[in-house]
Amino acid sequence: MSFYITTPIYYVNYKGHLGHAYSTIACDILARYYKLKNFDVYFLTGTDEHGQKVENAAKESNTNTQDYVDKISQDFRDLIPFLGCEINDFIRTTENRHKKAAQALWSKLEENDQIYLSNYEGWYSVRDEAFYLESELIKKGDSFLTQSGDTVEWIKEESYFFKLSLWQNKLLEYYEENPNAIAPKSRYNEVISFIKGGLKDLSISRTTFKWGIKVPNNDNHVMYVWIDALCNYLTSIGYPDVNNKKFKKFWPGFHMIGKDILRFHAIYWPAFLMAADINPPKRIFAHGWWTNEGQKISKSVGNIIDPYEIINKYGLDQIRFFLFREVPFGNDGDFSKGAIANRLNADLSNNYGNLVQRITTFCVKNCNSYIKNNSNFTKTDKNLIEFMKLKFDEYNRFMNEEKIDKSIKCVFELLSETNVYIDTEAPWNLKKTNKDRMNDVLFLTLNIIKNSSIMLIPIMPDSANKILDILNVNKTERNFDHITISTNDYKINDPKPIFPRID
Ligand code: MSP
Repeated sequence: MSFYITTPIYYVNYKGHLGHAYSTIACDILARYYKLKNFDVYFLTGTDEHGQKVENAAKESNTNTQDYVDKISQDFRDLIPFLGCEINDFIRTTENRHKKAAQALWSKLEENDQIYLSNYEGWYSVRDEAFYLESELIKKGDSFLTQSGDTVEWIKEESYFFKLSLWQNKLLEYYEENPNAIAPKSRYNEVISFIKGGLKDLSISRTTFKWGIKVPNNDNHVMYVWIDALCNYLTSIGYPDVNNKKFKKFWPGFHMIGKDILRFHAIYWPAFLMAADINPPKRIFAHGWWTNEGQKISKSVGNIIDPYEIINKYGLDQIRFFLFREVPFGNDGDFSKGAIANRLNADLSNNYGNLVQRITTFCVKNCNSYIKNNSNFTKTDKNLIEFMKLKFDEYNRFMNEEKIDKSIKCVFELLSETNVYIDTEAPWNLKKTNKDRMNDVLFLTLNIIKNSSIMLIPIMPDSANKILDILNVNKTERNFDHITISTNDYKINDPKPIFPRID
């Protein structure tokens, strides 16, 4: 089984921030989850380097455009390992392989009679790199603003158009037959009502600047940045060679995006693809936006959250955990210091960390670090094992719907229940009265710590693996085939505290 997952490719007009990190980590969580299920996973990210917005940013910094995009693209690339993400490819839209793929897609659309030359006249937002109808804008004095308050400019130029209007009914049919192609449900509904509102042909080339991929056979035009950018998902797997192994194995893919770029991915992109005889994406998930202490994050307000700063302050796994446990995935969330401290202390220090720390130190001090395996369970033990199985099933069900917060919650319910079990069974008392039973209680608890840690690998790969190291769990057994009660004994390594408290 294969799983192809992509992040949006990031504009190189500014350095990476929390919003970008969020999209990338979300993909890493799903990629790691599918790897634990033994899927063949391909995880793509990269940078979106053409268009007016990027060209303007280079001009503002008085840098040659190519040098400018090289520098910022490298910054995005360097950020990935810092976020604990393991990717398979990093694509840049200024690479030759991509220019060739985008031009091939264009030529295919032309060959299929999907493109015509005409004139475009209308509103354009450089910030969104998007065309707007006047009805979608807010009038302010003599000018118009986008819903998010940005200025638009009136452009009038010769332009190639894609026959998007031809695809209105086909898209509706497709989404009716594939209700899981867009998630969450509210985003699916948003797309359906947008399509029902009517689709106009889409301008797909520009003539007033040069920083883009040349339109085949017409040097006056560069491609509209979105047709160029969306094509990256095909470039990485070898387009235009649709018969190569990678393409056959991984397409169609799963696109993780933010809610602001839903229209491009869920309407334009599947229409381009169908028009080029390629299957539409398997699934598009649109996540929400983060605010900073209640305020919209923006360059002009100066409240952009730097991933380096917060990760250096709280720890990588702590941030990954907070971002995906705190907010139902798909909703907007607020990044606040108070919420972080509460969440990390309650779940990581007091629940997971505390269980691991007290059990492993107890084993080292009182059992010579050695716990024998056991399969003679009491009724209470069996109940806990049943509860573990139930939580693992729920965890999977939620992960398969990208309800990442709910999946994490299942593991923490299991950990809480295990803390209660330990308090009730009290191995520190059994030490004096029944050493065999003490061993068995510890054995079951270690198994639950092991299984919970495997389930938490996608979220907190480093910490979960450190805990599995303390438990001496074989590297080859750190996957979902091993969410069982081991038949081996446990030998505990010297424990170190993993989750310090935050003040
Ligand atoms: N280049 C386009 C995507 C092309 S994909 C073929 C683009 N780039 S972007 O850099 O502006 O944004 C990338 C992603 O970051 C988007 O999914 C966007 O939703 C996300 N975020 C930007 N700010 C964000 C928050 N404050 N919170 C969460 N995510 C946000 O769009």
